[in-house]
Amino acid sequence: MDQTPSLDVYLDGVAPSLPQGNALANVVSRLAKAAVELADLIAAGPFAGIEGRSSGTNSGGDAQIDLDIAANTLMCSALRDAPVAAIVSEETDLPEILHTEAEFCVAIDPLDGSANLANNVSTGTIFSIRPRSRDALSSFFEPGTTQRAAGCFIYGPQTTLVLALNGSVDVFLLDRRKGEFVLIRRNVHIPAHAAEFAINMSNRRHWNSAVRAYIDQCLLGAAGEHGEDFNMRWIGSLVAEAFRILTRGGVFLYPADARRSYREGRLRLLYEAHPIALIMEWAGGAASTGRDRILDLCARMPHQRVPLIMGSARAVRDLDVLHQGTRPLFESSDAPLFARRGLFL
Ligand code: F6P
Repeated sequence: MDQTPSLDVYLDGVAPSLPQGNALANVVSRLAKAAVELADLIAAGPFAGIEGRSSGTNSGGDAQIDLDIAANTLMCSALRDAPVAAIVSEETDLPEILHTEAEFCVAIDPLDGSANLANNVSTGTIFSIRPRSRDALSSFFEPGTTQRAAGCFIYGPQTTLVLALNGSVDVFLLDRRKGEFVLIRRNVHIPAHAAEFAINMSNRRHWNSAVRAYIDQCLLGAAGEHGEDFNMRWIGSLVAEAFRILTRGGVFLYPADARRSYREGRLRLLYEAHPIALIMEWAGGAASTGRDRILDLCARMPHQRVPLIMGSARAVRDLDVLHQGTRPLFESSDAPLFARRGLFL
């Protein structure tokens, strides 16, 4: 492992070939330093005064715990020292304006899936870096294709960084002895197909017909239209699901559904779907709402939700096909699409 470059060495190597590369490298590097601190805080838990105490709810209505607040403080302080014009964070209602002339704007979920910590399950920090447009705030309302880099830190048995930068996706592992990330996988490529799906099955009765038809066929296994047996995973932690897909392929769905607060899905566009979609696409996978490519979408509000289907390109394409001709909101009465249209056209 001694031959593998540290994150900072890697960034120094990439920066000269990128527009505003030094500034971009600076943002990533500062986030990584904050992530090292956050990983220690998560591991120490009660020894560091973190008890998992509830701190109310954030603007999106999700429960906040003490560690969400601590993660937000760590990440936002790191960004205040970086060339960042504005931040949208899951944990704060309004965007924060920093250095108005700085090169980049950052959307961040400081600690995604924090409810899992009580069960010692992986959580993560997800970030999206985009260039500042004429004014800082309008940058956040540009399509996801404007992102210059995105990534996630995963706090699990190992602390890893998945980084989408310069058109490729690389994975770094935190070397705790040195307190720095080192490159362990270069140019990750998602298998085009894998017979594995991830979805919160308890919501089946609320799904639209396209999602229900696809998953029902997975459950039928070799006897169904997919013609092969499927495995299922559900971690309930977006970063862990994304990492599994990067490693062995498959598809993850958090669709919109019939419940009032899920009409636009559950996950957030700016600091969950956009950055994860960039990672998926640059690793050869895909990300869609079922109707639209995630990276083509523009946010209307900082904390806007969006349906997310991501993973191996073939599965995402199949789900797009199934959504064609369905209405956007839940249709309780329509028959499964397999009755009218074969999955594999
Ligand atoms: O957005 C937070 C999050 O924990 C995601 O990481 C995860 O995909 C999702 O919520 C899990 O939702 P559910 O409560 O339906 O399991």
